[in-house]
Amino acid sequence: MGLFKKKSKKIPLEELVLPRHIGIVMDGNGRWAKKRGLPRMAGHSFGAEKFKKINEYCLDRNIEVVTFYAFSTENWKRSKEEVSNIMDLFVDYLHQWLDMDDSKNMKVRFLGDRSVLSPKAQELMAEVEKKSQRFKNQLNIAINYGARSEILRAFELLKGKESITEQDISDSLYTYGQPDVDLIIRTGGEKRLSNFLLWQAAYAEIYFTDVLWPDISFDDIDDALRFYSSRQRRFGGV
Ligand code: IPE
Ligand code: IPE
Ligand code: MG
Repeated sequence: MGLFKKKSKKIPLEELVLPRHIGIVMDGNGRWAKKRGLPRMAGHSFGAEKFKKINEYCLDRNIEVVTFYAFSTENWKRSKEEVSNIMDLFVDYLHQWLDMDDSKNMKVRFLGDRSVLSPKAQELMAEVEKKSQRFKNQLNIAINYGARSEILRAFELLKGKESITEQDISDSLYTYGQPDVDLIIRTGGEKRLSNFLLWQAAYAEIYFTDVLWPDISFDDIDDALRFYSSRQRRFGGV
C-alpha cells in the first residue's frame, strides 16, 4: 500500500530464458587496483582470475557461446609495461588451459588479429584451439580485437564477389558459424560498446553494471541473466 514497492521475489534461475550467446566487456581492472592503492597490473591479475571463474560459471549454466573481451585494438595505446603485463597474463592462461581438467573445458576460438602477438602466444593459441575442438560449449576470447577491423577484414575477404548478403558478412567475421550475441554484459560503469561485436550486437540486450570486473560475482551474472530473461525481444516487430 505504501510508496515503497515490496521487493519482488527473484525468479528462480531454472525458469529463466537464457541467452545462447553472451558477450562480456571485462572493464574496471585499473580502477579496482587504484582504489586499493595497487598498481594497475594487480587489477589485471585479479581480473584474469575472475575471468576463469566466470567462464566456468557460464559453462555450469550451459551457455552455448561466451565471448570475453580481453584486449582491444585500441588498448595498445597503454603503457608498454601495462600491455606486456596483459600479454604475459594471457600467455600464462594459455599454459594453464593446456594443463586444465577436461570437465571445465570449452571449445576455444580467439577473435582478433593474432599476427602481431608474440610467436609464443600464437603457437599456444593454435594448440589450445586445436586441442579444444572436441568440446561443445564455445569460449571466444577477443584479443587484439576490434569490431571495425573485423568488419573491414570481412569486406576484404569478400572483395571481388558480385553481390554480398548480410549472411556473407556474418560468415566472414571471426564469429562465423556462431549465433549473434544475445546479451552483452559490461562491468565498470561505462555505458558504451568500445568496438565490441558491433555487427553481431545488432539486436543484443545490453546490461551495464557499476561493479568493477575483479569484484564481479556469480550473483551479478545471475542478475544479468534475469535482466535478459525479462526483456521482450521484438526484433523490430510488435
Ligand atoms: C579492462 O580494465 C581490461 C582491459 C581493457 C585490458 P581496464 O584496464 O580498462 O580498467 P579501467 O577501465 O582502467 O578501470
Ligand atoms: C574495453 O575497455 C576493452 C576491454 C575490456 C578489453 P576499455 O577500458 O579499453 O574501453 P574504454 O577505453 O573505456 O572505451
Ligand atoms: Mg577500461
